[in-house]
Amino acid sequence: MKALVTGITGFVGSHLAEYLLTQGVEVYGTYRVRSRMDHIHHIRDKIHLMECELKDSNSVDSMIFSTQPDFIYHLAAQSFVPTSWNSPADTFWNNVGAQINLLEAVRKYDVNTRIQIACSSEEYGLVHPQETPIVESNPLRPLSPYAVSKVAQDMMGYQYNQSYGMHIVRTRTFNHEGPRRGDTFVLSNFAKQIAEIECKIRLPILEVGNLNAMRDFTDVRDIVRAYVLALQHGEPGEVYNIGSGVPIRIGDALSKLLEMTDRKITVKEDPKRMRPSDVPLLHCDARKFSEKTGWKPMISFEETLRDTLEYWRSQLHVVPPSV
Ligand code: GDD
Repeated sequence: MKALVTGITGFVGSHLAEYLLTQGVEVYGTYRVRSRMDHIHHIRDKIHLMECELKDSNSVDSMIFSTQPDFIYHLAAQSFVPTSWNSPADTFWNNVGAQINLLEAVRKYDVNTRIQIACSSEEYGLVHPQETPIVESNPLRPLSPYAVSKVAQDMMGYQYNQSYGMHIVRTRTFNHEGPRRGDTFVLSNFAKQIAEIECKIRLPILEVGNLNAMRDFTDVRDIVRAYVLALQHGEPGEVYNIGSGVPIRIGDALSKLLEMTDRKITVKEDPKRMRPSDVPLLHCDARKFSEKTGWKPMISFEETLRDTLEYWRSQLHVVPPSV
């Protein structure tokens, strides 16, 4: 079986490629000239890489025609929420335009493929406490340009299934973290700051944004298993929440990370890290997905935090303290 992963050089893409290889799948992936390759360096000779600009329909057409994949995991996106306020048009065009090109190419060549679309819990946006845990029928009240782009991707997946009968499964994934996570995302950013403090390239002051937000974290290695199950057992046209079901305050997650270092660290609010509007509470109800596929997360939150911190220590060559 052939699987195509868009965004294979990224955080989730690289973990998914690793997992697919363990399942005996032939893995194809798209990259752009400016993509960093370090996340897939260790598997580079086991996968097929194709240079493809997803915003360019010609580039996507020839990539789909030459690959003819059985499965497509569409992960490529501008995924950092704050960037979407600085460049809303680019976020929208990047996320939505790329998907139009991909779905149109599959339709044009009548490729018999199953497509997973990586949508997001950010789509739920403003959620009132009495509306939790969040099920798929909750209202979508997006609070960022990024979230709006994900609502558009989500609705487009529904529409292409309804209009053309294409095998499309949408996943609304809640926050996921782990090794290789980009250093702008919250837990990875905090872990990197701790590792920098440990190797004395940063003063012992850890900068933070909104510590009161609640997020539902899952390890990326559990998420990629879920994506594979989504295309094996998910109903075409359906949408599924994927998350641990355990919301945690960002401030409490930071406290757990700080327990993993022997350094005395002062926490300081950085006004630049505050957002024009922040999603206050995400709490996943993943029962629809678990009942359909048997998925459940296996990796504890503590393990995710520890592995993320170890990742940054190894990147910075820090010897871990014995706490
Ligand atoms: N990035 C960041 N940096 N976030 C901070 C910080 C900080 O210093 N301090 C507090 N936060 C808060 C943010 O305000 C937000 O409430 C929460 O931590 C999580 O922020 P991010 O890690 O940037 O993730 P996100 O929740 O905005 O979006 C992520 O999850 C979505 C799924 O729910 C991204 O991975 C999205 O791509 C994904 O769709």
